[in-house]
Amino acid sequence: MTDILVLYYSRHGSTRKLAELIAHGIDSVPGAHARLRTVPPVSTVSEATAPDIPADGPPYAELRDLEECQGLALGSPTRFGNMAAPMKYFLDGTVAQWLAGALSGKPACVFTATGSLHGGQETTLLSMMLPLLHHGMLLVGLPYSESALMTTTSGGTPYGPSHHARVDNSAPVSEDEAALARAMGRRLAETALRLAAGSRA
Ligand SMILES: Cc1cc2nc3c(=O)[nH]c(=O)nc-3n(C[C@H](O)[C@H](O)[C@H](O)COP(=O)(O)O)c2cc1C
Repeated sequence: MTDILVLYYSRHGSTRKLAELIAHGIDSVPGAHARLRTVPPVSTVSEATAPDIPADGPPYAELRDLEECQGLALGSPTRFGNMAAPMKYFLDGTVAQWLAGALSGKPACVFTATGSLHGGQETTLLSMMLPLLHHGMLLVGLPYSESALMTTTSGGTPYGPSHHARVDNSAPVSEDEAALARAMGRRLAETALRLAAGSRA
């Protein structure tokens, strides 16, 4: 099996919903398996540290997850047009993997959720690509052959899946948003399998 890491941070569950849909897309590709992981919130030194195991949902990611997986889907809520601090904090701890080239040549995609429709989905997605480019990852987006890109009235971009959750995070993931998230998972998994087959040839 080719493992693909779906790594996300989510405070209110909207980014998590997208992560689960991307994971379904990955798991629908024969030979591919989604490894769902999250990251803990960050706190100042005067606050309590989080337990090693989250109260619910998938486990916290370990650095070896990055090394072992053959692809990465990275998700974060939009915060001030950028990724959330917990995800940035996790990425800032990947210097050893960066120096070793552990992620170089592996495919990656990015996804996000926002409270407002024009609150920075594209800026967040593009800024999340920057550290992945430094790692030498091969970024995969969504082509317009995915018809939901033309019909969506909420999230879903060529830069990666997204969800407009509304200010109170009450909006369900729309059909178009879900179709694009699943398509992203499939595309990422198929790309990882092709790259793995190419490197064996
Ligand atoms: C500190 C902070 C900053 C935020 N900045 C933005 C923003 O720039 N644009 C936006 O549309 N929503 C913004 N939001 C709203 C979140 O993106 C939105 O609630 C998102 O759906 C949360 O995802 P989650 O349910 O995965 O935690 C912000 C929320 C917080 C707490």
